[in-house]
Amino acid sequence: MAADAVTDRAVAAFAPALIAWQQRHGRHDLPWQNTRDPYAVWLSEIMLQQTQVATVMPYYQRFLERFPTVAALAAAAEDDVLALWSGLGYYSRGRNLHRAAGIIVAEHGGRFPATPEALMALPGIGRSTAAAIYVFAFGGRAAILDGNVKRVLARLRGIEGYPGETAVAARLWRDAEALLPEKKIVAYTQGLMDLGATVCTRCRPRCSECPARVLCVALASDRVSELPTPKPRKALPQRRTMMLVLQRAGEILLEKRPTTGIWGGLWCFPEEDADADPVAACARRFGAKVVPGEMLPMIAHGFTHFRLDILPQPAIVKSWPQRAEEAGCLWISPEDALQAALPAPVRGIVERLLACGKTA
Ligand code: ADE
Repeated sequence: MAADAVTDRAVAAFAPALIAWQQRHGRHDLPWQNTRDPYAVWLSEIMLQQTQVATVMPYYQRFLERFPTVAALAAAAEDDVLALWSGLGYYSRGRNLHRAAGIIVAEHGGRFPATPEALMALPGIGRSTAAAIYVFAFGGRAAILDGNVKRVLARLRGIEGYPGETAVAARLWRDAEALLPEKKIVAYTQGLMDLGATVCTRCRPRCSECPARVLCVALASDRVSELPTPKPRKALPQRRTMMLVLQRAGEILLEKRPTTGIWGGLWCFPEEDADADPVAACARRFGAKVVPGEMLPMIAHGFTHFRLDILPQPAIVKSWPQRAEEAGCLWISPEDALQAALPAPVRGIVERLLACGKTA
C-alpha cells in the first residue's frame, strides 16, 4: 500500500476512535457542557485559555451569577469585571471580554455573532476559540487548535518543529482541518480537549490508554517525549574574558569579587580583556613582572543571560611588589584554594593545574 493511503487511513480512523473514547472516558458534566448559550460558552472558553478546568470552575460560576447575560456584562464597570477575574490571571482576557460584550450589544443588537469569522473579529477571540464557540454554541463544524491540541496533533502526526513557528502552525492547522469528521463535532472537539488534558499530557502521557495509540506516529517512532518540539532557546549574548592564572612559589593568585554582580563575593583569578597582553596587564595592575605560559584550553560557561568563554592564561611571576597583596588579592596553594568559595570554572582551572602538576 502506498504511504499516502496509509496516511489517509490513519486520518480517517482518528475521529471515530476519539469520539468513541470521548463518549466512554471523556468529561461530560463540566458546567459549560450543559448549555448552548453562546455567552456562557464564550465565557468558559476565554477562562479556559491557559487555565485548567479545576481553577476555572468557581470563577465561571461566580461570574455567571453576577453577570448572567452579555447585556449585564456590557453594562458593568470594568473594575467590577476585573475584580471578579482577580486571581485567574492574564487580565487582558477580562478586559477584552468586557470590551467584546460592549461591541456585541452596540453592534450586534446583543446577539452573539454566529460565524467563526465574525467571532474572530471580537477582542480576545482567536481562531481556535472562535472555532470552539462555533462548535459548542452553534453546532458548527470548525477545527480547534489550542496548546493541548497542538501537542496531541504534533505527536499523532509526528510533526517536528516548534508550533510557535508560522510554518509549523500552518501544518498543524491543515492537519486539524483534515482530521475533522463530518458529524459528531461536539463529541470530537470535546474529545480532543479531554485527550490533551487527561491522556496526551505534556509529561508522562498515558499512551497505553490512548484511543489513537495505533495511529500515533510519535509513539511508533519513539518520539513522544520529543514532540512537540520545544521553543528554540534564544541565542544568548557571547562574552569573552581572560583569567590570569598567576603562579609564584607553588601558589596561585586569587581575587575576591565584589559582593554584587556575577559570582558575587567568590574568589576568582584576576580578569582581563580576552585580547589583553598579560605581561602589560600584570605590570599595570600589580607592578609585577611575569612570563606568560601556554594558554590553557578555553572554558565555555553558561549563565542565564549570557555565555562566557574563559581563556585561562597562566603566567609565572618573576617579581612581585609587596603592595599588591593589599588589593583584595590572596596568594594561596591550589589545594587550599579548592576549599575556598570558587565559581565552577575557576575550580576547574585549579583542578587542572593540580592534575598537570603545573604550579610553578
Ligand atoms: N479547554 C478549553 N475549552 C475547554 C472545554 N470546553 N472543556 C474543557 N477544557 C477546555
